[in-house]
Amino acid sequence: MSLSVIGRSLNQSATLKLNETAAILKAKGEPIIHLGGGEPKGKAPLDAITRAAAMLNSAEIRYSPPDGTVEAKQAVIRYTEEFYHIRPTPEQVMISVGAKQALFFAMQAILNPQDEILFPAPYWVSYMEMAKMIGAVGVPVLAEDGGFIPRVKDLALRVTSYTKAIIINSPNNPTGAYYPPEFIAEIVEFCEKKGLYLIMDDIYHRLLFDGKKPYSVYDFTKNYDNNSKIIVINSVSKLYAMTGLRVGWAIANQKVIEVMTNIQAHTNSAPSPILQAAAAGALNGIQSGVDSLRQTLENNRNVMYARLKAFEGIHVTKPDGTFYMFADFSAYEKSSTKLAHFLLEKVRVTVVPGVEFGREGFLRLSYNTTIKDITQGIERIKWALDPNSPNELYIGERKLVRDWV
Ligand SMILES: Cc1ncc(COP(=O)(O)O)c(C=O)c1O
Repeated sequence: MSLSVIGRSLNQSATLKLNETAAILKAKGEPIIHLGGGEPKGKAPLDAITRAAAMLNSAEIRYSPPDGTVEAKQAVIRYTEEFYHIRPTPEQVMISVGAKQALFFAMQAILNPQDEILFPAPYWVSYMEMAKMIGAVGVPVLAEDGGFIPRVKDLALRVTSYTKAIIINSPNNPTGAYYPPEFIAEIVEFCEKKGLYLIMDDIYHRLLFDGKKPYSVYDFTKNYDNNSKIIVINSVSKLYAMTGLRVGWAIANQKVIEVMTNIQAHTNSAPSPILQAAAAGALNGIQSGVDSLRQTLENNRNVMYARLKAFEGIHVTKPDGTFYMFADFSAYEKSSTKLAHFLLEKVRVTVVPGVEFGREGFLRLSYNTTIKDITQGIERIKWALDPNSPNELYIGERKLVRDWV
């Protein structure tokens, strides 16, 4: 069959692929423990639901303006004032179908084919595929010391005449690492000096632990104006447990937003106004849900970290935020894909292979689940990997027998 070169070059999302297999097994009654998830389990805030319901009840369901409804944009402007300490004009804001689409449209707006976009590795899987889709090149940059946060110097060494932008995702998916304010100050200065776009993927920005506070990238720029090359991407997905709502946004200079809006107008027109109303409801409403999610995650993180730390041979770094822990399992198996499939097949635990995030030998485990699933999931993994484990493990009534070495 004839397919485009770009189309053929795209990889299927590994996370979705594993989730799909796990869902099929679960539907068959298999005792799956899902440590692969990337979404909160809780309910969407009531303020979001009532706003969307009111709009739906009005039965006036029209096209949204291509850059978003006035209500949603005003909610984003207010949110930006509160958390970013700047007040963008409406022309500097675009509402999108999730953070994903805002990121993709931003890349389309600023990158030409062959241009390069840098991001620290490990990185969120879609950055690379998005770059490919526009004929640009994603360049992952590993920290020289093997850690999760490269120095600005490491990034600087990879800048070429084709480099147009750098993406920073803090706290980070998959590592949970929080880029310290000093790093952000340095990268802002570097990008300004080199004339590079700096894209902040802030989708987890308030899901921080151990008293860490979200920062605003704009606090580190000396000359913020309508020529700024800082692009902030965010969404209601992770903070407000509304991953299925598909509403996000971008804040950038007016010219970039204009181009992004043109792209949106010619592709999906705009997100549904009903869903934008829900997003505005969440952003303007009671915020206690975000804090209780944050607290639950911090507690879950502590439980998972303690369990993995006590697991001989596993190297784990305590995440500063997000839902994820990125642990080095290479002492047991070098191929993370092989290991993830093995764990699903043998002990029915879903995890995501680190290679998908640019780091082989690691697994991403999500603690965005119940304490019971975290403890039992790690117990099963340990049983599967530790050669000194007893020969049998009971999952409810079911007996698993170790028939591997
Ligand atoms: C780092 C990162 N950026 C962006 C997204 C996309 O978010 P949304 O659901 O708002 O499109 C995700 C979702 O997993 C993510 O982890």
